[in-house]
Amino acid sequence: MQDAQFDQARLAFREAVWAGLQQEPKRIPSKYLYDAQGMRWFEAITRLPEYYLTRAEVEILQRLPTLWPSHLPSPTAIAELGPGSGEKAVLLLRALPEVQAYIAVDIAAEALDAAVARVRQSGWAGLSYGQRGDWVHGFKWPALSASRRMVAFLGSSIGNFEPDEARAFLHRLRRHAESGELLLVGVDLVKDERLLWAAYNDPEGVTAGFNCNLLHRINRELDGNFAVDRFYHVAPFNAQASRVEMHLVSLCDQEVAVAGRRFSLRRGEQIVTEYSYKYTVEGFQALLADAGWKPAAVWHDHRGYFSLHLAASS
Ligand code: AVJ
Repeated sequence: MQDAQFDQARLAFREAVWAGLQQEPKRIPSKYLYDAQGMRWFEAITRLPEYYLTRAEVEILQRLPTLWPSHLPSPTAIAELGPGSGEKAVLLLRALPEVQAYIAVDIAAEALDAAVARVRQSGWAGLSYGQRGDWVHGFKWPALSASRRMVAFLGSSIGNFEPDEARAFLHRLRRHAESGELLLVGVDLVKDERLLWAAYNDPEGVTAGFNCNLLHRINRELDGNFAVDRFYHVAPFNAQASRVEMHLVSLCDQEVAVAGRRFSLRRGEQIVTEYSYKYTVEGFQALLADAGWKPAAVWHDHRGYFSLHLAASS
């Protein structure tokens, strides 16, 4: 990263943490969970037996060749927002043989390199490259293949947004879409609370490690002094809001300092670090339609835990 950009990112992080620790309840935006170490923690989460989301989505992607609607032409270019390890991109490109260009879009350079390398190693021969960018604020398509584009937003990352933000985000993608452009979104579904609990409160403590990494990151990057062992992770399901909430709960009354500012926490007080919204199929289709996307197909895994939505811009 260039120095100026780096400083700006760090200043924004500091502002977000300072502002969030003054809120009631305390809140830090979930995007800060995903530094290089957070991405590694998240990769470990995807391999947990309790974390059904990734396996369910992979199952659908593997069936995609037989599921794809015959009346819809296959895309020729795919931009994937937040590609993660690139594992799903490989499946997507295998399922859609007419694709000629694959663009991975992310703010984290490491993530882009990993995803593009994975795609190339898979033997896929098309044009592939990473593009640094905040997917909320836009990205550019390559000059070639202006038609038959598809944006892929997998993994239920959409669940990190509040529903209003999700709608605004989908609407923004729609405004930038060419006629006929497609959107593929992975969306986790509302289900038995015990399954949701298990997926976000694993006994091995991997999700706890992922969550606590945020405090380590603040210590590393913002000269923080969080005593991380004075917090515990818990991720309850808020049924009314239809979301899993990741919390870091203070084990005692304590003071912490971040970049020279002090904050106090009461015993039992939480810092909210992430929302993971769960939708019904109908609820998400309504959101797509509100944002100007025409639902074209929806698929789910054999247990009905997870859904993949295909929508068209016209
Ligand atoms: C990457 C946002 C899809 O919400 O399930 C996993 C993140 N947090 N366990 C999710 C996450 C805790 C994940 N997303």
